[in-house]
Amino acid sequence: MKRFGLIGTSLSHSFSQRWFAEKFAREGLADHRYDLFELPTLDAFPALVKETPGLCGLNVTIPFKRSVMPLLHLLAPDAAAVGAVNTVSFSNGRSTGHNTDVIGFRTMLLPLLNGTRPRALVLGSGGASLAVAFVLRELGIKFRVVSRSRERGDLTWDLLDPAIVGVCTLIVNTTPVGMFPDVEAAPPLPFEAIGPRHVVIDLIYNPEHTLLLQKAKERGAQVANGIAMLEAQAEASWAIWNGQLDQGT
Ligand SMILES: NC(=O)c1ccc[n+]([C@@H]2O[C@H](COP(=O)([O-])OP(=O)(O)OC[C@H]3O[C@@H](n4cnc5c(N)ncnc54)[C@H](OP(=O)(O)O)[C@@H]3O)[C@@H](O)[C@H]2O)c1
Repeated sequence: MKRFGLIGTSLSHSFSQRWFAEKFAREGLADHRYDLFELPTLDAFPALVKETPGLCGLNVTIPFKRSVMPLLHLLAPDAAAVGAVNTVSFSNGRSTGHNTDVIGFRTMLLPLLNGTRPRALVLGSGGASLAVAFVLRELGIKFRVVSRSRERGDLTWDLLDPAIVGVCTLIVNTTPVGMFPDVEAAPPLPFEAIGPRHVVIDLIYNPEHTLLLQKAKERGAQVANGIAMLEAQAEASWAIWNGQLDQGT
């Protein structure tokens, strides 16, 4: 049996398990299994790895994307540069951390840019924000991170005025604000500054149309949710576990 799974603290709404179960069924991989491993802390990680025979790969979600890094033998260059891991591969008794959120975000972003390099605002400074920032830097896109804390971002929310939002025509929400069940919430942007030149991306995928995307669309912006990123990062995890994606480790 080849075992895969997801580690995190709260996994009841996991997309990954359904996605991989459907994939294994579709591809006739009856000896493959993907489980949810809810861990209260990472203290349980070494025992999980030791006591799960056939473990080939894990996905990592909130709140372990950064804290899992020192527990791994190797880091792929992207994961080391981003400073977060969302995929772990196991081979010959060694664990390697990867970041497929980078691949997922790049895959969803490139078609939306149409060859342009707009100024950007990245809302939030957590694990997904690090992956987004990595891709924007790679593409030469200037951006500012908006945070509740002056230490973690370039701007705090109270400094986000219509002039800044008007100039930054790419907006990426990496906060969980608006995520199920909190669907009536939206990041506090001056929406009057958003218009048809804007591309507004919400990494949230549940609900499909967050209040942020609804409001931006009403103002004429092009909008995208996190589903394309989610599928692309899952495909990339699968390719890594199968040795089809060389991450240069
Ligand atoms: N589509 C995909 O493939 C994909 C991949 C990864 C993540 N995501 C989604 O992205 C979101 C964030 O995930 P993550 O792993 O980056 O989580 P995270 O590490 O917890 O980071 C979220 C960040 O959002 C900000 N934030 C949190 N609560 C906030 C609030 N009430 N108001 C304003 N800002 C708040 C915080 O930044 P400050 O402390 O700086 O304010 C925090 O660091 C989740 O909704 C997740 O589902 C989607």
